Amino acid sequence: MADKKKMSVADILAAARKSDGEGAASDGPTASKPTTAESAPATPEAAAPAKPAGKVKPAKSASGGRLSVAEMMAKARAEKGGGEEKAAPAAKKSADKKPKPAAKKPAAAKAATEPRDTASILAAARKSSKAGPMSKAEAAAKEKANPKAKAKPKILVPPMPEKPAYAKPASGTKKKAKGTADEERRDFLWVGFGSLAAVTGLWSLASLKFLFPNVRREPPSKFKVGFPGAYPAGQVQTKFKAQYGVWIANAEYNGQSQIYALKSVCTHLGCTPSWLDAEQKYKCPCHGSGFYKDGINFEGPAPRPLERCAIRIADDGQIEVDKSRVFQEEMGQWEDPSCYISV
Ligand code: FES
Repeated sequence: MADKKKMSVADILAAARKSDGEGAASDGPTASKPTTAESAPATPEAAAPAKPAGKVKPAKSASGGRLSVAEMMAKARAEKGGGEEKAAPAAKKSADKKPKPAAKKPAAAKAATEPRDTASILAAARKSSKAGPMSKAEAAAKEKANPKAKAKPKILVPPMPEKPAYAKPASGTKKKAKGTADEERRDFLWVGFGSLAAVTGLWSLASLKFLFPNVRREPPSKFKVGFPGAYPAGQVQTKFKAQYGVWIANAEYNGQSQIYALKSVCTHLGCTPSWLDAEQKYKCPCHGSGFYKDGINFEGPAPRPLERCAIRIADDGQIEVDKSRVFQEEMGQWEDPSCYISV
């Protein structure tokens, strides 16, 4: 050992190989030897065989050497078989033992194990305390029996701040009393039915309008304009223009005083001229045509005189005008006594 410290690495490896060779020879001829220096462990520590854990002694073969793997497996199997063999008699012993008579059970345990019929189960359930929702009477009785049980912890709520002045109702106004739920429901129904009735009424009116034709009402073509004395000479009456569209004039035509009715329709493009008493003429606002008092055109684009309507003294002495018949001056129709009343 003293020389071991002075051994070189090559010497250590050679010694290790030698010892391995001896071990391998004892293990058997199948063990292989390292043939090269490269396959050997690099350090003496790595080359040393691993120590078994704890105090387990290394198993030895029957020859006194190390056990091969096959021998170790055979030994382990043998040990396992022996254990089972040992355990088997113990189990047999327990099976042979006679069952001891069961100890007497208490009455409650006996009742629990015995089969019970439905009636007894229901009776037991009814006897026990009621689970689930309780009636008011039951709750009151329970609360009376144990008043502390329902006592809830008090929650301290801070008081509401006082309303500002602008949020308070005016001093003169009365606060409306809050109605009951029935009244509110009734009001709601009134409002609903009122709205429904209004909508139904409007819809009915709109439907009724379809039953009547959308026609324009024309004034009658024949109408009376009063007695001849109401029309002084040289005057043009304009009060029938809006309703009937005619002027009633008392003027001269071809040196003859006549009462005649002139249509207030311009002969240019159909506009409505106006009588200008100051200028003693009919003036059309559209293109500036002008007509004398007797209806003859004298200025503007109007190509011909105004038209006259049929006129006569009715049975009651009044002047009757018939707009369905017109007379044109350029056609020489003003000579017809049906279009004037001589005065
Ligand atoms: Fe009267 Fe043209 S319509 S002047």
